[in-house]
Amino acid sequence: MPTTRHDVVQQLQARLAGVDSMDEAALEREHVHVLGRKAGLLTAALKSISQLPIEERRTFGAELNQLRQRFESAFEARRRTLSQAVRSQEDDVDLTMPARTTWSGGIHPVTRVIDEIVEIFHRLGFAVAVGPEAETEWLNFGALNFPPDHPAMDMHDTLYLDVGGDPPEGERMLLRTHTSPVQIRTLQASPPPVRVVIPGTCYRNDTFDASHAPAFSQIEGLAVDEGITFVDLKATLIHFAHEFFSPDTKVRFRPSFFPFTEPSAEMDIGCLLCGGSGCRACKGSGWMEILGCGMVHPNVLKSCDVDPERYTGFAFGMGPHRITMLRYGIPDIRMLFEGDMRFLSHFGE
Ligand code: PHE
Repeated sequence: MPTTRHDVVQQLQARLAGVDSMDEAALEREHVHVLGRKAGLLTAALKSISQLPIEERRTFGAELNQLRQRFESAFEARRRTLSQAVRSQEDDVDLTMPARTTWSGGIHPVTRVIDEIVEIFHRLGFAVAVGPEAETEWLNFGALNFPPDHPAMDMHDTLYLDVGGDPPEGERMLLRTHTSPVQIRTLQASPPPVRVVIPGTCYRNDTFDASHAPAFSQIEGLAVDEGITFVDLKATLIHFAHEFFSPDTKVRFRPSFFPFTEPSAEMDIGCLLCGGSGCRACKGSGWMEILGCGMVHPNVLKSCDVDPERYTGFAFGMGPHRITMLRYGIPDIRMLFEGDMRFLSHFGE
């Protein structure tokens, strides 16, 4: 059925009514579709006028021209409305509003403390060694000169691992209660001279309270060579305290006991909070306990096939969680495990 003039006009009028609800892309498409110079509907209709009988040309031509004007002004009006909408959206932007900060992770204060300690010993020539967290009873206790059933083993409140069967003594598996078994692993793997620090996680069957965590970190130190004496131990650890805390930190050594060192000592530093006059943090003593240490027991060297007549050494062990608490005055160790950003953000990136 040939399209009549009436159809053409009706079709164009219907399209005209739609212009007012078009978005920008549809508007541009419609513009081409209706007024396009090559194939626009209206353009084509106008061109067809010349084939009409003379008496029809005037009225149809007038009708089409009027439609063209209405299209042009409808397109124009719609464009204006759309661009005003964009502008008023821009007006709604409050440029004074504070930007949303992007969340970024940070280094946990305990990790930071471990890194700092490792760095200080690195400058003294200590390498880093690590060992497994699941350890044999022999390496955790026996090779470290714990006699069988020694009460010191109870003190450690060991978490044993059920690996099936009933392994003989020494071969039972456990979660290491300290990083000291890595002393043995290191000496077995590389003969002296040896200087290592050993960071790692240790486990004890402790309650989780303000001062105990069942999983906690330790950093062990071990130096074995010819001619090492207690003077080297003291000089090294005093240097560490001065580097890590401050150059005027007071230090004292108290006699102590560990099966794997002889003699053994605990090192204290002058209380970081009260400076020595006595406060709640140091329980009135003016001192804070920082680490355990001593000269490597000859039996430990023997269990690593190191000749105790030729070599001597010192060892120490400290708890980075505890040191972090002392340094920053953190009252409860659980705060270091909770991952609460309100707490952790105090320690920077
Ligand atoms: N392993 C001991 C502990 O867990 C610390 C220590 C290490 C003491 C090395 C002396 C020498 O308490």
